[in-house]
Amino acid sequence: MKVLIVGSGGREHAIAWKVAQSPRVDKIYCAPGNAGIAEYAECVNIGAMEFDKLAAFAKENQVDLTVIGMDDPLVGGVVDVFEAQGLRVFGPRKNAAILEGSKAFSKDLMKKYGIPTAAYETFNSPEAALEYLETADMPIVLKADGLALGKGVLICNTREEAREGVKTLMLDKQFGSAGDRIVVEEFMTGREVSVLSFVDGNTIKIMTSAQDHKRAGDGDTGLNTGGMGTFSPSPFYTPEVDAFCKEHIYQKTVDAMKAEGRAFQGIIFFGLMLTEKGPRVLEYNARFGDPETQVVLPRMKNDIVDVFEACIDGRLDQTELEFEDNAAVCVVLASQGYPVKYDKGFAIKGLENFKEKDGYYVFHAGTKFDGGKNLVTNGGRVLGVTAVGKDLKEARSNAYAATEWVEFENKYMRHDIGKAIDNC
Ligand code: AMP
Ligand code: GLY
Repeated sequence: MKVLIVGSGGREHAIAWKVAQSPRVDKIYCAPGNAGIAEYAECVNIGAMEFDKLAAFAKENQVDLTVIGMDDPLVGGVVDVFEAQGLRVFGPRKNAAILEGSKAFSKDLMKKYGIPTAAYETFNSPEAALEYLETADMPIVLKADGLALGKGVLICNTREEAREGVKTLMLDKQFGSAGDRIVVEEFMTGREVSVLSFVDGNTIKIMTSAQDHKRAGDGDTGLNTGGMGTFSPSPFYTPEVDAFCKEHIYQKTVDAMKAEGRAFQGIIFFGLMLTEKGPRVLEYNARFGDPETQVVLPRMKNDIVDVFEACIDGRLDQTELEFEDNAAVCVVLASQGYPVKYDKGFAIKGLENFKEKDGYYVFHAGTKFDGGKNLVTNGGRVLGVTAVGKDLKEARSNAYAATEWVEFENKYMRHDIGKAIDNC
């Protein structure tokens, strides 16, 4: 069969790699793709938001299945465009992708259906938000309602910071219309865990757990980024946590979406915080995580194409997900200066050292071929270096050893990905 993947980052590289393992697949396209994805897929120069062009391409090339990796096209309704043309596509429709597309929607859903999350208020005007903040407890969290590349969340320690935050989101519109409405939320503390799941509208099957490191600098300092590294599984995701989430969060979310007439088919990514009072939902995403996918899929035993199809056909209840009894760590190699200002176009060397049979993977996030065959950096996050090991310690030591194989001029990485596991 022929599969089209939509997206261009490390997550889509990991999806393309996993799809390529399926004996059922003989051709993969990726739009727009990147230099790493080009190893398994024919990259097609169509942007992820060009829905009509994507659908026309799928039709012309008799694509059997399209997989949407990114959030923007899902929230924008790409799945509806494909379905209207009778094309098979994996991902939530627009009316379900709102679970990620509007924080106010997801908070109201959780409140209505009793799914544990932080207490919150929603505001459509800066005046009302500012008035509320005068008597609210600090610290407090401000969130732009819409998509903001993971950067529309402001943690404010003082009332002054909170006032500034309202200005940034609602008046200066730093994240555009995403800040027309904001959610003001209780500040919670605890360890964060990412749990990805497959959903077919009724049934939900949980993948293995992972943890991201969102801040740019060691020791969780510096600005928020798209993610500087991940490990899987999370030792903090205990059987007790799992049991709690199964009872109070996962199936309840799927049932709530169905009850609202917004049956969700695709990936639900649960961003959880393990607080003293138990697990709470920080956020939902309607797609695979990046860079969580880069540690979760190398551990997955199933043929992912079978699982995608089970979701589309509503027979996920007959599928058991299986993961290797091992661990994986992904260290992101970024360009010095990310996420603010950085140079690109530097030659990348050393990728020939990565041997999948030995458990080493390099997933491209921002790379391209410069004219001919020279691989160069082409983004803030450049590569995700993933290694597996028998346990987290071994996986981490393998991943950091592998980061030494790669050279480019302004290479930057965190040195403490997965360090928290030392205390386990
Ligand atoms: P979100 O995009 O909602 O996951 O928020 C991005 C990051 O902000 C999360 O990964 C947390 O580190 C932090 N965050 C979000 N909401 C809260 C909260 N209510 N309390 C504390 N930290 C939060
Ligand atoms: N790693 C967080 C995300 O994909 O949103």
